[in-house]
Amino acid sequence: MRQKIAAGNWKMNTNIQDGITLAKTLNDFAKNFNNNGKGIIIAPPFTHLYSILQQVDTNKIFVSAQNCGAWEKGAYTGEVSAEMLNSIGIKYSIIGHSERRQYFNETNETLYTKVKLCLKNSITPIFCIGEKLSERESNVHFEVIKKQLNQGLFELSPEDFSKIIIAYEPIWAIGTGKTASPQQAQEIHNFIRKLISDKYGVTISNETTILYGGSCNAANAKELFSQPDVDGGLVGGASLKANEFIEIIKAL
Ligand code: PGA
Repeated sequence: MRQKIAAGNWKMNTNIQDGITLAKTLNDFAKNFNNNGKGIIIAPPFTHLYSILQQVDTNKIFVSAQNCGAWEKGAYTGEVSAEMLNSIGIKYSIIGHSERRQYFNETNETLYTKVKLCLKNSITPIFCIGEKLSERESNVHFEVIKKQLNQGLFELSPEDFSKIIIAYEPIWAIGTGKTASPQQAQEIHNFIRKLISDKYGVTISNETTILYGGSCNAANAKELFSQPDVDGGLVGGASLKANEFIEIIKAL
């Protein structure tokens, strides 16, 4: 179901004490937040997930992982499986963030495996796509996005695809302070929706939630989120400051 969502990607930040404080502050705000059709997601590090799930009203704040393993279980030292996440009550996982693609060599094929494992374990993947600066400058960004969708998601059945959230995150905008303009975001979101429509039909396309990510903050959220095909944001740095993230939620 298409929804307005503010998702905070904490990345490798906060210790458990700071993480719980941040989650509790957001939870206090969320108590009085009318979440009709709107969702608040936070994605703390793995170590925090179980504790934070106990601290928040999980009808108001959804807790997400930032990644999951590409195998069901077994001798994969250091990995955390989708089944483990499901067993503690996690309902979402970011999959294919550009930092995972860049630093951990995650390919579209691996990510497709992760998506399937998430779905098998009742976890909604927040699937990230987006181009590098060099790809935008050489005008191949549309092709890049198309390939990421084709290889990472478009083998899914219509039923499974309907459960996915997509996050468009141009890599040149992540952590750089260089946000995509609302028009640039809208152009790509509209392109993504068109590709989904060509593959799965207009109904599924219109029901897909597509978030924007990349230097989204309290000052630019309102204009970005008001674009017709932008359904909210995947927020990194600005989600670590409770007050700023609350302003972003209010912009939904
Ligand atoms: P940023 O990160 O908001 O700090 O640019 C967004 C993300 O990487 O999800």
